[in-house]
Amino acid sequence: MYLQRRNRILRANPAIRSLVSETTLTPNDFIVPLFIDEGENVKTGIASMPGYYRNSLDVTVKEVKELWGMGLKCVLLFIKCKDELKDNTGKEAWNADGLMQRSIKAIKDACPEMVVMTDVALDPFSSYGHDGIVKNGEIVNDETVDALVKMSISHAIAGADFVAPSDMMDGRIGAIREGLEESGFTKTGIMAYSAKYASCFYGPFRDALDSAPGFGDKKTYQMNYANRAEAIKETLMDVEEGADIVMVKPALAYLDIIREVKDAVHVPVSAYNISGEYAMIKAAAKMGWIDEQKAIIETLTSMKRAGADLIATYFAKDAVQLLG
Ligand code: PBG
Repeated sequence: MYLQRRNRILRANPAIRSLVSETTLTPNDFIVPLFIDEGENVKTGIASMPGYYRNSLDVTVKEVKELWGMGLKCVLLFIKCKDELKDNTGKEAWNADGLMQRSIKAIKDACPEMVVMTDVALDPFSSYGHDGIVKNGEIVNDETVDALVKMSISHAIAGADFVAPSDMMDGRIGAIREGLEESGFTKTGIMAYSAKYASCFYGPFRDALDSAPGFGDKKTYQMNYANRAEAIKETLMDVEEGADIVMVKPALAYLDIIREVKDAVHVPVSAYNISGEYAMIKAAAKMGWIDEQKAIIETLTSMKRAGADLIATYFAKDAVQLLG
């Protein structure tokens, strides 16, 4: 057989394959989500996220130092709010002495170089478990945006490097940027969850934070997974309004969206390898049906190949260890 081109030449052995590899994962790619709880010396397992924990602040601070030591440079903070502090206004979200604000300070004090990002949305603080304020059964936009601005400023005061609005209200990026500017926080970044879809894969996260919606679903603010043009529209608007980094979420079932967003904007794109994606790999691996370590690296590589400059993932530590 005469063949002008033999593609297998470039796949012949590990050395050649590594030389022509187009995508490489490094610790610089990862954002580590952390779930923080009240108390001391508390490390609580999450049934639907085996191997992941909700830690008290003292445990979290130790964890952050360990992450830094491993070469991981960015954490994304989520807190579990006590039931008695939840209400429909979500006001605990901007309490200067709230768990989030104390956590930001403690982490920046202990590990000043660690890039600290904070989730901005009302759901952990809402008695309804919604990302916004509820009126007559609806999630109202503009009042929620006012609350998100207060929340963002309180995170900036505590020392957050980036606020990460995950709520999908209209106009919140512009309002948060304006609020930060007016308060003198000219160095605080915004990582916008720009293309965030209403996904069934958030289930385990809502278990972790006890933040499942008390009624209805999130489809009036999070996007319909049937849509792609809408993702580009949302993302372009967020960039225009002042987002420094944009995000596509979830990641695995949305690799096409990551690529389209990457091609459409000139800001870093991040992808969120969410809780349900973590749970699927953990569950299948536990059954012995897939190789967990290979599945972790393959899925994270696919996200980077799709165009993600950053990946928020519960597998960050595993990945760094596996990459050696
Ligand atoms: C809250 C928020 C959610 C996640 C991140 N921020 C859940 C939701 O929108 O219901 C999900 C993260 C994950 O599933 O890993 N606004």
